Amino acid sequence: MLPPDVIGEIRNIPQMSFSKAFEMDFHGGIPGFESIESESRSDLLLQSVIRKQLTLSLSKITAPLSQEAAFALSIHLGENPEWHEITIKDPLLSIVARLSSRIFLGEELCRDEDWLRVTKSYALSVFNAAPELRLWPRSLRKVVHWFLPHCTRVRALAKESRKIIGPVVQKRREIKRAALASGKPIPEFNDALQWAEEEAGQDFIPEVFQLSLSLVAIHTTTDLLDQCVLDIAQNPEIVAPLREEIRDVLRSQGWKKTSLYSMKLLDSCIKESSRMKPLSIVGMRRNVVDDVRLSNGLVLKKGTCTQMDLYRMRDPDFYENPNQWDGYRFFKKRLEPGKENLSQLVATSDDHLGFGHGIHACPGRFFAANEIKVTLCHMIMKYDWKLVPGTDFEPAMTGTRSNSNPAAQLLMRRRTNVEFDIDSI
Ligand code: HEM
Repeated sequence: MLPPDVIGEIRNIPQMSFSKAFEMDFHGGIPGFESIESESRSDLLLQSVIRKQLTLSLSKITAPLSQEAAFALSIHLGENPEWHEITIKDPLLSIVARLSSRIFLGEELCRDEDWLRVTKSYALSVFNAAPELRLWPRSLRKVVHWFLPHCTRVRALAKESRKIIGPVVQKRREIKRAALASGKPIPEFNDALQWAEEEAGQDFIPEVFQLSLSLVAIHTTTDLLDQCVLDIAQNPEIVAPLREEIRDVLRSQGWKKTSLYSMKLLDSCIKESSRMKPLSIVGMRRNVVDDVRLSNGLVLKKGTCTQMDLYRMRDPDFYENPNQWDGYRFFKKRLEPGKENLSQLVATSDDHLGFGHGIHACPGRFFAANEIKVTLCHMIMKYDWKLVPGTDFEPAMTGTRSNSNPAAQLLMRRRTNVEFDIDSI
């Protein structure tokens, strides 16, 4: 366990591999876990599709995300104008799965109920199967996984994803072949299936690629969205200024990538939720692939697995009143000279490791930030919510992992006197 004062030093050391640690922790090489190997491909296909095509498309995908959010919220949060109880995490997971699938797989599959079930279940099954398998010596895992219940579930989901995605890929390839043969322009599908093909040709397995995306994107994004929803419920005075900001920005700019940039208070609230409850109390997990000597004399031997204590995000030397959620914290910091960029949600730094830091900092954070903001805009404008008295909203700890509480209950109602119709944009 490394102390926070070496963050700046280790963040860009190539001998400290994220992928290798990921592959070891999550059993790359075992049937059903192919998505893990896909994450650690030497050509970094996943990382490069996310960094290049996905991030560069953000300006084009904000409006489709908003359309899908309107549809998804109406299904999963409903239209009931009376106060009613709702266990919020599950519906938010479904909403994130729909929005993500819209961009990862396109219009056809983002409303396919079977795919939505697979994408929601896969990461959870891998996270259950991994510790189950870790109880066995490494040498036996290639055999015992066939008999362990969570591993069986992971394999079943991988197989099902092949059945769902295979025909769509086939159909697209036929459409393209036919267009090429008849001299017509080749249709473009503006989603991650197409982007991966542009990068790797046919040298990748589409359903495995999609499961890798499901693994890294769906539960992480849901967790931060959910935590922010719970934090807003505990700090209701933030709702009115947030509504004002969203209304002013959307009225003047509509749905653009830059509109989301202009929602500085919303950005600050999400970053504050990520500061107080990151995905884990440790981070920057690495496997040392060649001996490393740090400037303090510490030698990290090849083969060592390291991680970082994330305490700094609650350290009073770095954050005033660190155990108090303050939606304005990063909004105010953005006004300080020199801190404008560092205080944005997508900025990583030694003091804020919600998305990691350095060469392996989360490449999906720009997309995740947009997805969370679009969803919150719709939620804040369309719904009122507050905590059910006595509900447990404290994060649920499993080992070092810290999840937003899956049992937290809200009282929610659809607003009727809405000052601004967000769906009209
Ligand atoms: C709020 C949502 C998210 C959070 C909190 C989050 C957090 C993280 C963290 C902490 C890391 C490790 C960084 C490190 O060790 O330095 C990471 C890595 C990664 N994330 Fe995310 N993530 C989120 C959403 C996403 C999304 C939506 C995608 C894909 C579209 C994604 C793709 C990845 C990938 C591919 C890596 C591995 C990077 C590498 O191999 O260098 N993440 N993420």
